[in-house]
Amino acid sequence: MTRVLGIETSCDETAAAVVTRNADGRPQILASIVLSQIEEHAAFGGVVPEIAARAHVEALDGVIEAALRKAGLTLKEMDAIAATAGPGLIGGLIVGLTTARAIAAATGKALIPVNHLEGHALTPRLTDGLPFPYLLLLVSGGHTQIVHVAGIGHYQRWASTIDDALGEAFDKTAKLLGLPYPGGPNVEKAAQGGDPRRFAFPRPLRGEARPDFSFSGLKTAVRRAASELAPLSPKDVSDICASFQKAVTETLADRVARSLERFRTLHPSDSEPALVVAGGVAANGAIRAALEELCTDKGFRLVAAPLELCGDNAAMIAWAGLERLEAGIVEDAASFAPRPRWP
Ligand code: KG4
Ligand code: ZN
Repeated sequence: MTRVLGIETSCDETAAAVVTRNADGRPQILASIVLSQIEEHAAFGGVVPEIAARAHVEALDGVIEAALRKAGLTLKEMDAIAATAGPGLIGGLIVGLTTARAIAAATGKALIPVNHLEGHALTPRLTDGLPFPYLLLLVSGGHTQIVHVAGIGHYQRWASTIDDALGEAFDKTAKLLGLPYPGGPNVEKAAQGGDPRRFAFPRPLRGEARPDFSFSGLKTAVRRAASELAPLSPKDVSDICASFQKAVTETLADRVARSLERFRTLHPSDSEPALVVAGGVAANGAIRAALEELCTDKGFRLVAAPLELCGDNAAMIAWAGLERLEAGIVEDAASFAPRPRWP
């Protein structure tokens, strides 16, 4: 029975979690605490790195204590301490990794630096026990990628965005329309009841052979529509959001289809190939529905993380640490420095 404490501080959530693999082999989340800094950043319409770092310093110890209390365990009962070491905002990464290093040193436990993206990538193994290989669609505020996941540490990027990340497109669209931060959930809410056919927004790269994504043209089109109509009525906002979301889902389906075909060619004997969708944007209902339809069409199974594990959390970091520990693939933690960029 392995137990790992995970720490996540790469962006605007301060999170700690305890994850274990039970004697019967089943993963279990014993505690997962996520403290969002939304209120601290809302007035600025986005994450302010300096405020984020300060908030992590103030909150992290309490969040770790709360996670251990919830799990009914002490630091001594952990096998390792895993912390996000990148990619992300440097201030937060330093806070999380330094705290983890101090705890590891004081308790004599192993320190495992974890790549935030690996955390998202391995989440379906924590929640569904999904076997390798599978295809991952990672859609968050900073990343839009399709990754072929063959095993722990065996990741191959098949596609990425050539400009904005999808979450970024949602956030910028929200800002243009005067919707509050964070943009994604508010755009989704505003889209409900809106007319998705009122605006003919572009479907960037649609039909092209390359598997990549592009979203900046979509944002530009939203800006144009919004400025032509200004001042916007609630109905205008709702119609723009619905039209934007429709363009996003159609674009995603077209782009992702390329990689599903490639996966199928690479693994012809996989009778139930899986597409995993992870990252904050995976919480979007319209996107999930579009991917579900695409997967049914292509003979894939869609595996989506439960809502509370789509956004940033420490359970995924603890889990990635646990998988690394079990596989014996651990970075040299002693000299490991935080990496703001870590593909
Ligand atoms: O994975 P995440 O929590 O943090 C990063 O690692 O970036 O993703 C945050 C992103 C933000 O851009 C947010 O607007 C977006 O996920 N998001 C959504 C929804 N919920 C969160 N986008 C669309 N629809 C949603 N329901
Ligand atoms: Zn994330």
